Amino acid sequence: MKVVTTEKSQVLGVKIAEALDLEIVDTRFSRFPDGELYLRTGDLDGETILVGSVMDSDTLVQLLLLIDACDGSENTLVLPYMGYARQDKKFHEGEPISARAIARALSPGVARVVCVNIHEESVLDHFQVPARNLSLAPAIGEYIAAMPLADPLILAPDAGASAFAAAVAGVGGWNCDELQKTRLSGDEVRITPRAIDAEGREVVIVDDIIATGGTLATAASMLLAQGAAGVHAACVHGVFSGGAYTRLRHAGVKSVVASDTIEGGASRITAAACIAPALTSA
Ligand code: R5P
Repeated sequence: MKVVTTEKSQVLGVKIAEALDLEIVDTRFSRFPDGELYLRTGDLDGETILVGSVMDSDTLVQLLLLIDACDGSENTLVLPYMGYARQDKKFHEGEPISARAIARALSPGVARVVCVNIHEESVLDHFQVPARNLSLAPAIGEYIAAMPLADPLILAPDAGASAFAAAVAGVGGWNCDELQKTRLSGDEVRITPRAIDAEGREVVIVDDIIATGGTLATAASMLLAQGAAGVHAACVHGVFSGGAYTRLRHAGVKSVVASDTIEGGASRITAAACIAPALTSA
């Protein structure tokens, strides 16, 4: 068995291969003169672990090409970040269920799928092969435990992230709460923790995805205005679109950390330690 990765998931793929003591396949990526994507893998030996996050159209196409290049019948697809998972239903008439479209496209050619903190667990049902979801909440909790923070308050930015935040907080037995938005007037909102006062506390806001950073930047400014001693942010998938990282730091967030499901400068937590053991039992 060997591990092969797409171009944007190389570092994570190598870490998974090393953790499993498997060979990483030497794969080269380029484009045809007309812009179409091209790849060529080194020797494969049948059963293959494919690692590739879907962040955009190119990463999706590259993953489709890679699946096609792997001709084994027992391939495992590791999808560390599944873009399009947030469009998991028709919010308006005429819209696609994008998560379903991506899951259906990626299913042929693989025997099983392993995801990491997929935005909604129900999306797993759209794959046409068995699919499971892993959580990096313990890894994020361990990262926070190593930060120089005395008794941090773990906050979910909304109710949807509260189970994730509770799992993170469980690692250190820390307080946990979720933020709630109160509308003060037509154009004024106040964001506060639902039950726990943030004054004087080191706060860590945790979420599955930081995309534009809009939610967290607003929350951080308000928490600091309420007297929080410091605000930090930690997420699984650091999309950081449209300057989100600088937006957060400008809003006063002291540190921003993400995992390597999307590889980038803020990827200081590796998903490999969670993914590798799951593959031996997948
Ligand atoms: C939403 O349901 C997700 O869990 C994140 O809270 C959201 O994607 C973050 O988006 P943004 O960074 O653009 O505020």
